[in-house]
Amino acid sequence: MSAQTNLYEHLADELAALIASRVFAPGDRLPSIRHLAQQKRLSISTVMQALRLLEDRGLVNAKPQAGYYVRPRARGLVSLADAQDMKEPTYVGINNLLMEVLRAMKTPGALQLGLSWPPDELLPVKRMQQVMSAVARRSPELLTREGCFDTNEPNFVRQVIRRAVDWGRINPQEIIATNSCTEALSLGLRAVAKPGDTVAIESPTYFVLLQLIESLGMKALEIPTDPKTGISVDALELAMREGLVQACLLVPNANNPLGCIMPEANKKRLAGLLTQYDVPLVEDDVYRDMCFPSDRPWPVKAYDRSGHVLLCSSFSKVVSPSARVGYIVAGRYTEQVAYLKNVSSGGTNHFTQAVLADFIGSSSYDSQVRKMRRAVTQRVARMSDAVSAFFPDECSVSSPQGGFVLWVQMPDEVDALALHRQAIEKGIAFMPGQLFSASGKFGNCIRLNCGNAWSTEIERAVRTIGELVHQQLDQGILRAARERPRVIEFTR
Ligand SMILES: Cc1ncc(COP(=O)(O)O)c(C=O)c1O
Repeated sequence: MSAQTNLYEHLADELAALIASRVFAPGDRLPSIRHLAQQKRLSISTVMQALRLLEDRGLVNAKPQAGYYVRPRARGLVSLADAQDMKEPTYVGINNLLMEVLRAMKTPGALQLGLSWPPDELLPVKRMQQVMSAVARRSPELLTREGCFDTNEPNFVRQVIRRAVDWGRINPQEIIATNSCTEALSLGLRAVAKPGDTVAIESPTYFVLLQLIESLGMKALEIPTDPKTGISVDALELAMREGLVQACLLVPNANNPLGCIMPEANKKRLAGLLTQYDVPLVEDDVYRDMCFPSDRPWPVKAYDRSGHVLLCSSFSKVVSPSARVGYIVAGRYTEQVAYLKNVSSGGTNHFTQAVLADFIGSSSYDSQVRKMRRAVTQRVARMSDAVSAFFPDECSVSSPQGGFVLWVQMPDEVDALALHRQAIEKGIAFMPGQLFSASGKFGNCIRLNCGNAWSTEIERAVRTIGELVHQQLDQGILRAARERPRVIEFTR
């Protein structure tokens, strides 16, 4: 019995691998049952079991009298970046909804497809333990020294500069160590804009950036953003020329949630526009090391000749989200950022800066980055295949070039928030699209975290979300049929 089980599972895995590597492309017919049985020296019933398993996994469809065909994949997202699409600047009000969603996600036992965090099992916990005890032994004064008047740990600054040599030379005077990238972004935005100002953002964008704009009483201007090439520089130029924006807050490398990377030519053009129109850019570069192409992209800061770019990053995505160590390279706004840093949190933990500096200065960091990128690239592809298999054919999915997430666009009738509530009841958490817009866009989209190792639980969860989407669509069709105007008969 178990040998039999292994035989059909083995054949199913073999065929699944051929489908994944596109030997059998979407729409292709698989070899016939008889042919597979002869070729693999298996019984007809074993081959049929294998094909049924592939059907269950959503990889193939059976067509009566015709055989098994590879299922079509979900379509890629179409370009959204039409400059005409730009709306008015708007005050942001997503915080209450975000809190509600985050609270629901804490439901005990919920399977987490919501957060854009690296999976624990890929993080270098053992190595960090070693580095921590080595630093504590070597420099015990770091456990007592107060960091108020001296924010930076010198070796941390050195390592930040070293890691940037591929794209340029950072002036050490411009670096300020922060408590994570989030603090860097907050300090940067507070330094360059004031309440009532308008901040240009990508659309969709990371909800914490919206929350930040909301908390500071600023307005957001959503700039059309292409799922492959990022923010429309044409649209942004239009907004700058019209004097609509006082600052930009962007994630040019692996935008969260689209995962797109701005082409280098667009970054260079953007840097020129910032100088020309005297508009600062707070650049969130937290995913640079988690971009999949082998040539690491450069930040916009690499093209900045006038100091208008405030580069923000951290080591949360590759080394340790809990260390909360990041930095800002603040350009012409350094003094203001230093002042704000001082009054907001005094300093940044010198011990953790020293630990991070040791780690990122060693070869461990490069192998850690390689390991993470390899694993996450595969996991994103696996999740994308599952979305293709289990979601309705009308859905489209992003092709991220970095980061941990996939963005799924569903038909307009689907309500991502209702979907989120239904999924939470079934113990599955993800992010509804409404949280990624200041103006209520993307109510038919969801963001899925792909960082975790693939498992039957995750496969089941994606299948369940797909079924819920099917249900919403079916109910919509029924409702539309019920609401269709009836023919009124005249009675005399
Ligand atoms: C675009 C982006 N910026 C910043 C952060 C947060 O970084 P940190 O944990 O260093 O504050 C995240 C985390 O999800 C993110 O997606």
